[in-house]
Amino acid sequence: SNPQTAANGPSGAPILPDAAREPHEPAIIRRKDYEPFAWRVPEIRLDFDLGLETTRVEATLKVTPNPDAEAAPEIRLDGDGLVLESVAVDGEQRTDWRREGEALIVPLSPGEHVLNVATRIAPSANTQLMGLYASNGMLCTQCEAEGFRRITFFPDRPDVLSVYTVRMEADAGAFPVLLSNGNPVEQGTLEDGRHFAEWHDPWPKPSYLFALVAGDLVARTDRFTTCGGREVELGVWVRSEDLPRTSHAMESLKRSMKWDEETFGREYDLDRFNIVAVGDFNMGAMENKGLNIFNTKYVLADEETATDDDFDAVEGVIGHEYFHNWSGNRVTCRDWFQLSLKEGFTVLRDQLFSQDLHGAAIKRIGDVRVLRAVQFPEDSGPFAHPIRPDSYKEISNFYTATVYNKGAEVIRMMRELAGEAAFRKASDLYFERHDGEAATCEDFVRSMEDGAGLDLAQFRRWYEQAGTPKVTVEQAYAGDAITLTLRQSVPATPGQPDKQPVPIPLKVALFDRESGAHSGETLIVLDKAEQSFTFDGHTSAPILSINRGFTAPVVIEREISRDDLVFLAGNDDDSFARHEAMQELLLAYLLGDENEDAREAIGTAAEAILADDALDHEMRAELLSLPPFAYLAERSEVYDPGAMVVRREGLKTWLGERFADRFASLHDTLEAPAREAGPVGKQARRMRSLALGYVAAADPAKGAPRALAQYREAQGMTERQGALAVLAGLDGPEREEALADFYTRFADNALVIDKWFTLQATALREDVLGEIEQLAQHPSFTMSNPNRVRALYAVMAGNPLAFHDASGAGYRMIADLILELNLKNPQLAARFVPSLGRYRRVEPGRAALMRAELERIAEAGELSRDVSEQVSASLG
Ligand code: ARG
Ligand code: ZN
Repeated sequence: SNPQTAANGPSGAPILPDAAREPHEPAIIRRKDYEPFAWRVPEIRLDFDLGLETTRVEATLKVTPNPDAEAAPEIRLDGDGLVLESVAVDGEQRTDWRREGEALIVPLSPGEHVLNVATRIAPSANTQLMGLYASNGMLCTQCEAEGFRRITFFPDRPDVLSVYTVRMEADAGAFPVLLSNGNPVEQGTLEDGRHFAEWHDPWPKPSYLFALVAGDLVARTDRFTTCGGREVELGVWVRSEDLPRTSHAMESLKRSMKWDEETFGREYDLDRFNIVAVGDFNMGAMENKGLNIFNTKYVLADEETATDDDFDAVEGVIGHEYFHNWSGNRVTCRDWFQLSLKEGFTVLRDQLFSQDLHGAAIKRIGDVRVLRAVQFPEDSGPFAHPIRPDSYKEISNFYTATVYNKGAEVIRMMRELAGEAAFRKASDLYFERHDGEAATCEDFVRSMEDGAGLDLAQFRRWYEQAGTPKVTVEQAYAGDAITLTLRQSVPATPGQPDKQPVPIPLKVALFDRESGAHSGETLIVLDKAEQSFTFDGHTSAPILSINRGFTAPVVIEREISRDDLVFLAGNDDDSFARHEAMQELLLAYLLGDENEDAREAIGTAAEAILADDALDHEMRAELLSLPPFAYLAERSEVYDPGAMVVRREGLKTWLGERFADRFASLHDTLEAPAREAGPVGKQARRMRSLALGYVAAADPAKGAPRALAQYREAQGMTERQGALAVLAGLDGPEREEALADFYTRFADNALVIDKWFTLQATALREDVLGEIEQLAQHPSFTMSNPNRVRALYAVMAGNPLAFHDASGAGYRMIADLILELNLKNPQLAARFVPSLGRYRRVEPGRAALMRAELERIAEAGELSRDVSEQVSASLG
């Protein structure tokens, strides 16, 4: 039969290309409208006839009425871009189905039925990278959140759980490896050089966790014996040339499995665990049951091509996806409004994993830096949303730092309130109560209450309210007592003009001025708009250290003398708080009026940090790092990007000059330690490259040859990239030599060529925008690979000199990019909108140019749901 005719259906509505089908204003989906699905689908069988150009899918669904829902005379199956071939019910071909937009609706009498639906898809034409798509000649899937409907017609919602059996048939030469979820059942050869494999996943799962991979891949294999004695075969699947870069991923996986057993009591539950690395991927990675699919960036690492940070990122993401097996797969989400249920919890779990392996202090400082540079701006911008949103138009837009990172902070606060042991009891209770279910954030909070004995009635506001709370601190010393008066306010956000106070747990310590010590930490909980806390027994006014460890994701504004900050920056025994004091000194200077004394205080604190032999070099480097531009912008009401860069770079130069000898000698003496294995080497590399940056900031003529020497003698990517990052910001032959060498040396390694683009796009050079324009024309640049697009343009959007070029050409570049990617890859396109959306915070001249670009996009017509939702939110 002619599939095009069949696809039109009996009612004859023609199939239009994706974009034309989108109604002009996308519909709003609301959390309060949740209804359970009328049917259950306890089992599904999928038969794939795989090909790059055309893939045929036969789905066999066992369906039964859902006793918890209102009965329906028909079943509604989601679809997106599918060519429908046939529909049968209980073995009989049916023609009484109809299409409603992309959905397929099949009349069904009450009772149990078997539904057969055959469809065709075109993986090579799938540029959205959602559903089944081609990457470097292989086939792979990405189904979260709503990609499964691009593979077959199905109730594509996380509360419909099925047991999957998957049979794949393909050309054995092009696709020698055939993987899916669960355990392998059978495989064999067929006629005409074809072969097949069948997999079965015994654990019921929602469609977003389905995965398949077909390709010419090789595996690093290993084994893990679980605490319960299950032997698990592990595989990390890559293209053969990448095999030498898979050992870190495998070791990370084994560490993750062990850690989750020891820390959360979670054991793995299948005979196989496979990870596949894919070069074209919209996000970081995906936790498909038993078959995690990863962006190559988070799998491949060796010392030659990956930095220390890359190694840590691989380990963190491997952990994250593995931990989802319990927090996400065994217990999944009822609907997508509950996304933070799995993501917030799993981010917290991966953060704790990395803290345990490498030390809590550095990890916490880094995590808070990301929160402030990415999530705080989201929370104060036009797209602000609670960690559990109330509505969305396109769910892909809600895979945000708010849902992920603030979500993790909210659960971390519960852990702080409960204490570690009680938190573990509560998480055990949560897993026990909801194993096999599609749960809600409310279920999680109730488990925390029941398991840890907490009352979280008011705490639930953290799930409801958007916006970063602000806490102001006043201190009054009288007699021998100090009284802290704390006031909180949660700012108004779009759709939420009035906010209620939230409970804010703050760990505090009071340092005695004479002894320089404190007599212990206290956890205070600010749960009213205004509240006072008194501590006595202080013979002189103590120095307050507050929000130690960053116990609450809030902004603290306190009156504190410069001298006290200098004291804390040099002496606080809480590493986070010590770092924070230094950051406060830096912010005060960078955001305040130009002030000699403020800068002098920074110098005094830096002096102490440089002289403190008890510090390791990584912490020393953290303490001496300037706040990221994005956080400076976030802490200003309205800012002038050009002026802010000048001020920040000026401070770097001043510090570089003031400690010129110290930084030069650190760069010299750390050369040998930087080549050592283990933490010592990593710490030395970190400090050495930072020192190099200060040397170059003070005197480019001294910095350039030093950097070139570090580049030439580099023994790994950390040293090499550290040197190149400095050189990329300078002028002269050293820069050109190193960049050219780097390109030729790594021409065949896509992830390193990404770095080559990024290093140049990050540089704070006068004509960086023109250079980025040139890079976009480079033969190695492509719009088809998300990593490459991000390596150039996401980085450009974060470079104030490029993005905020006073001409407006940077804004135009990003708007053009959004329009070019709009239909080709809507998810990727939409990620670029928020940079333009922050115009309200930028000085009026630039703000008008930014807004004009948003309006140009809005008027371009035919916008994807993703871009449309972001742009209309930005325009407000
Ligand atoms: N669940 C994945 C993770 O965080 C992310 C998948 C997001 N995919 C998407 N298309 N938005 O681990
Ligand atoms: Zn996740």
